[in-house]
Amino acid sequence: MEFFIDSAIVDEIREINAWGVLAGVTTNPSLIVSSGRDFREVVQEIAALVGGAISAEVTALDAEGMIKEGREVAGWSEHVVVKLPLTPAGLQACRTLTGEGIKTNVTLCFSVPQALLAARAGATYISPFAGRVDDIGWDGMELIRQIKEAYVMGDISTKVLAASIRHPQHVVQSALAGADVATIPYKVFVQMVSHPLTQAGLDGFMKDWAKRQGAASAAT
Ligand code: E4P
Repeated sequence: MEFFIDSAIVDEIREINAWGVLAGVTTNPSLIVSSGRDFREVVQEIAALVGGAISAEVTALDAEGMIKEGREVAGWSEHVVVKLPLTPAGLQACRTLTGEGIKTNVTLCFSVPQALLAARAGATYISPFAGRVDDIGWDGMELIRQIKEAYVMGDISTKVLAASIRHPQHVVQSALAGADVATIPYKVFVQMVSHPLTQAGLDGFMKDWAKRQGAASAAT
C-alpha cells in the first residue's frame, strides 16, 4: 500500500516527504482554504516538491464546469490528478476527463455501489472516506474491504484510496483491507513513527555509547 499525505500545508508535506515515504498528496477545498494560499500556487509548489500524484479538487457542481476546471487544474502540472465529487455530474466529468487522458480521483465515496459507478466512469482512484463512515456509526474499514473485493472480482483497475484516516490503526486496517493507497494526515504520520520502546531503546543505546566514549577518553 502506498502513502499519500492529506494536507495542503507545504511545511507538513516537506517534513514527511523527507522521510522518503510519500507517493503523492491529496488536497480538498477545505484543506486549500486552511493553507491560506492561492490554489494554483500551492498545488504547483506541492507538485514540484513531491511529484507523484497530487489531487486537486474542482469546485464547480455541474459537469460542464467540472470538465472546464478539471482541464485547467490538470494543466498546472503533469502530476495533478483531478478530484471530482461522487455525483452524477462528477461521474460525467470523470468519463470525459478520463477520455482525454487526465487522471481522476473520485471523492466523497460512502458506498460500494458508488465505487462501482466511479470505476465504470473510468476513475483512476476512488476515495472512500473511512473516518466519516465511522462517525455515523458504520464500519469504514468494512466499506474499503468490500470495495476492494468487488474491484478484484470485477477485474477493475481503479485504485482504492483509503481517505478520512483518523489514526494509525486505520492505516493498518486499510492495508489489511487491500487498499492500494492510504491518504494520511500529518498528525497520523507522526503517531505512526513514534513508539515508546523505540525511544527507550535508543536512550539506552546512547547511554551505553556515552559510557564507552567516556572510558576510551579516560584511557588516553
Ligand atoms: C481525502 O481526499 C480527503 O481530503 C480527506 O481524507 C478527508 O478527511 P476528513 O474526513 O478528515 O476531512
